[in-house]
Amino acid sequence: MRVLGIETSCDETSAAVLEDGQRVLSNVVASQDDLHARYGGVVPEIASRAHLERLDSVVAEALERAETAPERIDAVAVAHRPGLIGSLLIGVTAAKTLAWVWRRPLVGVNHIHAHAVSAAMVLPEAPFPAVSLVASGGHTALYHVRGFTQIDLLGATTDDAAGEAFDKVASILGLGYPGGPAIDRAARGVRDDAIHWPRTMLAEDSLDFSFSGIKTAVLYHVHGTGGRRDGLARFTAEQIREIAASFQAAVVDVLVSKTLLAAERTGVSTVLVGGGVAANSRLRERLAAACSERGLALHLTPLPFCTDNGAMIAFLGWHELRAGRVSDLRLWASAS
Ligand code: KG4
Ligand code: ZN
Repeated sequence: MRVLGIETSCDETSAAVLEDGQRVLSNVVASQDDLHARYGGVVPEIASRAHLERLDSVVAEALERAETAPERIDAVAVAHRPGLIGSLLIGVTAAKTLAWVWRRPLVGVNHIHAHAVSAAMVLPEAPFPAVSLVASGGHTALYHVRGFTQIDLLGATTDDAAGEAFDKVASILGLGYPGGPAIDRAARGVRDDAIHWPRTMLAEDSLDFSFSGIKTAVLYHVHGTGGRRDGLARFTAEQIREIAASFQAAVVDVLVSKTLLAAERTGVSTVLVGGGVAANSRLRERLAAACSERGLALHLTPLPFCTDNGAMIAFLGWHELRAGRVSDLRLWASAS
């Protein structure tokens, strides 16, 4: 069975063909980073317009690379929530149209749930029950995953997502966009204890996150509290890298300790990690060390499937279809 997966929830236009829920025959991702870089963040209007312009050719390329004629597609899966509403609508409308024209089942997939199980794409067996950390540009959450269609929220960010904090801090430090990879690179080989940023844990036993405090702390450290924006020139390139490295260390500390707390709380022995921030090299290292110390099995999502991609949508869509979940042409996009 071949599933076409479509993902347009934020700023990547992606389509993939997945065979039998296992083999990724193609996974085409058209990034819009170049369009948003000058603004230091995703501009929703520009994102939806770019999806509209690119999605047809991205789907065509996904079919071509998979050597799959449309008749050989058995179902269409689409990320229909959460995300930028204008962006989601482009993918959902395209998916509904293709499902209708091809007379194939359609399934709407929660894009954060797809991140939550994306580590399982390369595993021979379902790794559940597990705790899953999803850290992306728009969301940061911990889930108790008991099956592909049994994904329960344990905690989420109360303000900024981890990736959003990476993007904004990179912008404050003049490191470019997208900020996560830029900070990851800048921090490599640099001391990470030059500045001790706050680790916001909220209540002692809380599984929720908050990253706006550290973002503001970096802003004030660089520019002062007077609203000026000319402070960066006071720092050397090395000092900027140290700020980036110590910021990254603080965010990773919070993500790792809350993930361990979630595993302890739920009593599971498996940890999954997905979402764009799951590509972060320090997060991957720290989680590996912490999980091995505690005897927890860790499954990190492979790098090509961390940031938004159609393959993970096809993957969860395939499992949802197997569980009997099908959407109809009334499927609608939802920002939340
Ligand atoms: O999952 P994703 O593609 O989109 C959303 O669902 O939001 O995540 C994008 C986010 C961006 O904020 C980007 O800066 C961050 O993932 N990111 C990283 C790294 N690679 C991407 N953050 C930290 N380290 C990285 N290596
Ligand atoms: Zn995402």
